[in-house]
Amino acid sequence: MTKQKTVWACSECGHSQPKWSGQCKECNQWNTFHEEQDFSHEKSRFLAQPLTAAKPQRVDEVVIEENIRVKTGMKEMDRLLGNGIVQGCFTLVGGDPGIGKSTLLLQISHLIAKQGLLVLYVCGEESTAQTSLRARRLGISSENLLLLSETNYSHIKRHIDELSPDFVIIDSIQIIYKSEITSAPGSVTQVRETATELMHLAKGRAISIFLIGHVTKSGEIAGPRVLEHLVDTVLYFEGDLQHNFRLLRVVKNRFGSTDEIAVFQMGEGGLKEVENPSQIFLEERMKGNPGSVIIPTVEGSRPILVEVQALVTNTAYSTPTRRSIGLDSNRLGLLLAVMEKKIGYQLHNKDVFVSVAGGLKIVEPAIDLGVILAVSSSLMNRMIDPETVVLGEVGLGGEIRSVSRIEGRLKEAAHMGFKKALIPKKNLGGLTEIPLEIIGMERVEDAIHATIS
Ligand code: TYD
Ligand code: MG
Repeated sequence: MTKQKTVWACSECGHSQPKWSGQCKECNQWNTFHEEQDFSHEKSRFLAQPLTAAKPQRVDEVVIEENIRVKTGMKEMDRLLGNGIVQGCFTLVGGDPGIGKSTLLLQISHLIAKQGLLVLYVCGEESTAQTSLRARRLGISSENLLLLSETNYSHIKRHIDELSPDFVIIDSIQIIYKSEITSAPGSVTQVRETATELMHLAKGRAISIFLIGHVTKSGEIAGPRVLEHLVDTVLYFEGDLQHNFRLLRVVKNRFGSTDEIAVFQMGEGGLKEVENPSQIFLEERMKGNPGSVIIPTVEGSRPILVEVQALVTNTAYSTPTRRSIGLDSNRLGLLLAVMEKKIGYQLHNKDVFVSVAGGLKIVEPAIDLGVILAVSSSLMNRMIDPETVVLGEVGLGGEIRSVSRIEGRLKEAAHMGFKKALIPKKNLGGLTEIPLEIIGMERVEDAIHATIS
């Protein structure tokens, strides 16, 4: 009997090698190697491969076929994907458990099935009864939407062969397995092999396939990153489980632009698109509170107004507390140091808490000036004019640096009824048609004088 050949595969990046080692030399992660069966030499692995072999063609002779797109009818969703779902597109939807991936795809399935296209929803994670119950709660019923509770890949493929659906949803890729592979479902080999087979199905037969994938604690799709290379489009579903809004972010898109987001709200009737996200983030604002500043931030190409709140209190201990929610705590420390040095604030005996209201996470430095003004406002117990928005990156010397996409941000502020904007002086050029009183600022001190004192 021949000995079963095994390899050691990294669960983070999918790199495989013949021997175990503590650290993966590809992604530098520790303790990620698992022993798996070696499939790399097996012939005819991909049964679904198209029969016609490709021939080399001259670059100018290639016939460009217009992609056939199916619109879901969800305006934001279609925009995100680049004007609808491309036929034969292989898409991965990632996100934390409970964020709403199954709900979103069930709703999309319904919208597609309503147009007369056949949709097969493979619910491996939940039973068909559970999924059907959810569908009923969402008011979904369509003869073109079929549920299949199956986790064995060859059975799923047999059903796809029989039904030849236009759309297939796999909920989730981590639970699907091929029985020929001995490693557990969700392991690198299983995920890679099943996803590769599905990719050939999508491409060979022009079936649009959506994979649902779980995200690990560190925020990556569980299992190998190879999955991201295989698919055409990667969508991440994010949000705070405590808040009912969700962001769907495009990380990769072969058929449209990346870095776009769509905002949804989770409610009784499932997910609803939010066409005006600024409104929900400002909904619960109490005007006139010291420590509150409105900042026009940008998510993808979309400006969103958010409220940054700061609370400064006397510290009871020898080391002051600095806490931030929704922004990087190192950045906060840096901004506080600039305030101490440049404005002369005594913050060493103060606790500072800063939070982005609504649960949004902001990484762009354009919110720096807003954070400084919110902290100053709370420290001095003086409110900042509630009809003013603030924008600017702050350097270590206390200088206010320019930010990108200024026009879109200010237009959104004007659209939401704000009257005044404090922006970096370098951004002033060419801003003529914005119905706001715009003031350019060069240094942090000037901005504080203009708003607080
Ligand atoms: P789900 O789609 O199951 O998440 P995932 O597939 O990403 O794990 O969503 C689960 C959550 O959504 C659950 O906590 C209940 C909530 N939910 C609503 O609030 N309203 C609804 O109409 C539905 C269907 C779910
Ligand atoms: Mg689910």
